[in-house]
Amino acid sequence: MFYKKIFIISSKSKNRRLPPSLPSRPIIGHLHLFKKPLHRTLTNLSSIHGPVLYLQFGSRPVLLVSSPDIANEIFTTHDITFANRPKFPSAKHTSNNYTTFVSSSYGPNWRNLRRIATIEVLSSHRLLCSSDIRSDEIRCLARFLFGKSAKNESFTKVDVRLMLFEVVLNVILRMLAGKRYYGENAEDSNNAKRFKEMVEEVTALGGASNLQDFLPILRLFDFGGVQKRAAKLAATRIELSQRLIEEHRQRGSSEGSHKKTMIADLLELQRSEPEVYTDTVIRSLCLSILQAGTDTSANTMEWIMSLLLNNPQVMHKARDEIEKTVGLDRLIEESDLPNLPYLHCVINETLRLYPVVPLLVPHESSKDCLVGGYSIPGGTMLFVNVYAMQRDPNIWDEPTKFKPERFEGGKAEGKWMLPFGMGRRGCPGEGLAKKVMGLTIGTLVQCFEWERVGVEEVDMAEGSGITMPRAVRLEAMYRPRPKMIPVLQKL
Ligand code: HEM
Repeated sequence: MFYKKIFIISSKSKNRRLPPSLPSRPIIGHLHLFKKPLHRTLTNLSSIHGPVLYLQFGSRPVLLVSSPDIANEIFTTHDITFANRPKFPSAKHTSNNYTTFVSSSYGPNWRNLRRIATIEVLSSHRLLCSSDIRSDEIRCLARFLFGKSAKNESFTKVDVRLMLFEVVLNVILRMLAGKRYYGENAEDSNNAKRFKEMVEEVTALGGASNLQDFLPILRLFDFGGVQKRAAKLAATRIELSQRLIEEHRQRGSSEGSHKKTMIADLLELQRSEPEVYTDTVIRSLCLSILQAGTDTSANTMEWIMSLLLNNPQVMHKARDEIEKTVGLDRLIEESDLPNLPYLHCVINETLRLYPVVPLLVPHESSKDCLVGGYSIPGGTMLFVNVYAMQRDPNIWDEPTKFKPERFEGGKAEGKWMLPFGMGRRGCPGEGLAKKVMGLTIGTLVQCFEWERVGVEEVDMAEGSGITMPRAVRLEAMYRPRPKMIPVLQKL
């Protein structure tokens, strides 16, 4: 009831109308509301107090938006104004002083990185050139599962989270550097461990989750040892990414496995334009792609598998579609994906219910502007609550229900979804993510039968973290489908 008393923060200027807010506390502002998982707390606040709120997280003003119309206005009319990123002190080291792709504010450095990423590295043409890497990695996964399965038709248990994380890390590292890090013929198990730890540590330190970023006083004491951990992590990131570059230089870009890698392409560009394609730029791109691409895709696939285990009729329907389109004598290929609309509906419905970046990556306004008739001062941090909007009962019928059919035949067209963000800072890896997820889930469903570990439903609780993981890691039981054994034996 206390919070139901919405009031308008009194503005210093008479003409300035800030969005509605809530009573705040001295120094900490609204930080006492900072309960994990944050996207759920903010969803509850918006459902009580309205879709546009102006909060104060310690020293930082925050605009919280859960209205599709307002989000649309921000990412169209005010897209450039909100294209900055807040400078979180906890990310100073790991972001190389806010110059990496994800952390950089709008300006020449970000524009350069974005152009290289979208045109040189993640364009449809480049993705087409690397499709054999992805298909080979997913085949390795199928071979691994087949080899590990019991030979007497009983089910075998597998750690789904670990399996999916490793396959995505392998795909991305192989596209970047041409190396396999996990599983059979892995080249470098020690560095594999370090890469994995690095991705996990950045996720743990990242996002808007460190109180030091909002209460400067805490930085004096390095509360939680955040700064020390970040400095160590930054050194590891530079060392590992520079090593990948040096290995390419030593072997030469013409050698077999390095021929089509992103690093080889970037080093070739460096030879003609060294001032644009510096080692720092190449390192930044590699680390951003590695970081932004692995956890997001792996976590989404873990949610997809969880939903399929709880909804076996959906798994059967997806499998029937694959069987009709691809048949039983070969594995699904990337080129089959456009002909598997139901599989896309399953992925879309999962991204609607479990958007793994639920509040998007925080943006910051560079100057004062008017949003939805409200005055928003420059330097305001923006949270767009995609999670809340994608479960809004005013937009979605039975919003918390998993119903891939709602996307069939373009039925959901025009309904508002933003799991990859939009505008200038929207995700540049959407195309790659959809290919990796379609091929991986398609192969798992095509080749294996899946069951829950126990009789009870898979727990769907969300954990906290910038990439919304499941609260409980997913394990499942599987066995090869008898019809697919001849194909699996030939892998
Ligand atoms: C299911 C998978 C994925 C999801 C749901 C996802 C979602 C997102 C979201 C919501 C953002 C922030 C948008 C904003 O700030 O408004 C983002 C940014 C970004 N994503 Fe993804 N992403 C995924 C996979 C990938 C992949 C595979 C890559 C690269 C290979 C990638 C690279 C990036 C980069 C570099 C940015 C920062 C862009 C910038 O700041 O300008 N993402 N992603």
